[in-house]
Formats: sequence, C-alpha cells, structure tokens
Amino acid sequence: MAPRKTPPPAEPPSREPAPEPSKENLDHCRRCELWERATQGVPGEGPAGARLMLVGEQPGDEEDVQGRPFVGPAGRVLRELLQEAGIAAEQVFVTNAVKHFFFEPRGKRRIHKTPMQRHIAACHAWLEGELMRIRPAVIVTLGATALAAVYGGKIAIAEARTRKLASPEGVPIVATYHPSAILRVPDHDARVKLRATLLGDLKRATRLANAP
Ligand code: URA
Repeated sequence: MAPRKTPPPAEPPSREPAPEPSKENLDHCRRCELWERATQGVPGEGPAGARLMLVGEQPGDEEDVQGRPFVGPAGRVLRELLQEAGIAAEQVFVTNAVKHFFFEPRGKRRIHKTPMQRHIAACHAWLEGELMRIRPAVIVTLGATALAAVYGGKIAIAEARTRKLASPEGVPIVATYHPSAILRVPDHDARVKLRATLLGDLKRATRLANAP
C-alpha cells in the first residue's frame, strides 16, 4: 500500500498590502455584497497631511447619491460641531468604516441598516489604506461601528471615552458618539447634554492632535 501523504503545512496567512482607497477601486470592490444595491462607493475626503481623522459608520442616503462622506443631516451637525470646536473642516480627513450604503428599501424610501460585523471586516482593508496614506495623529471614532472597526475589539463607547485607547497601528483613538444620535434624541435636555459631550470630545481630540 502506498504510504499516506501527510498534507502540506498550511500557508501562513498572507498579509496583503492595503489597497489604494481610490474612488475607482471602491467602485470595483466585491469584498461583500453591499455594492450591489448601493449607488457607488464613498471614499474618505480630506488633505493628505490631516492630523485628525474622523471615522463614521457608513454613507447615508445623501452620501450614497453624492459619493461624498457626511454631506447629509449628520454631516451638517458634524460641521457645526467642528466649527464650534474651532476645527477647520477642510483640515480634517473624514471617512467611514464601511464604504457602501447598507439599507432596506421601503416603498420609495431607503431605510438605513446598521452594518454587520462581516461588512466592517470586509471593508477594513480600505480603512487601513486610508490610515496608511493619511497617517493622522489622532483618530476620532463616531459611534459604535467606527469604534469597533478602528479599535478592533469590543468596547462600549461610554467605557472607551474614559480610557486611553489606540488603534492596532498605534494611533491614539478618541471615541465619541455619532452626530446623528443628536438628531434622534427626543428629549431637549438630553440632546443638549449629548451635543456638549461630542463637542468636548472633539476639543479633546484636537488638543491631543496638536500636542507637541
Ligand atoms: N453617517 C455616517 O456615519 N457617515 C456618513 O458619511 C454619513 C452619515
């Protein structure tokens, strides 16, 4: 009887270099199924030397149509907050953990759905590509999806806000809530409080980014 062959040793996991996160490359992305229903991929925007990188969840309805991040209602709140925090919007790099809009069609409307872990994982190479190109001093994660994507582990925003966190690449993370949460809070006092929290976190991030 011929001796049984032992199977070859498993290949070490290949560490592919992060792809260039260009609009064209994103539009050809087939790493998950979200491209099928979305209008287009939405890359991050901002100058190459940005000290602050803001990471949101995913493009919303308006972002999907325009192909630009944070141009809808949440983006308007974010820009107001940046202005109040004394941060020039054109000097920050703004992007999302997931680059295609995930939604459920309901009549003529497209209802936002929270991206799943596999969407975040599939899209991570693009985020990494942006990180490597921008090399920010600080990453601000806006909401739970962004925090999970950038930090890589499970941690609640409330706890993350009290801790000194860094991304696996060693970039300090300032975790905060998503600006769209301000639009959803029905209670006036809670809304004012949440807005102040986000503002304080953005100010803290900019101090950290500008620290010698
Ligand atoms: N919400 C996000 O997280 N990102 C956008 O680009 C728009 C809304």
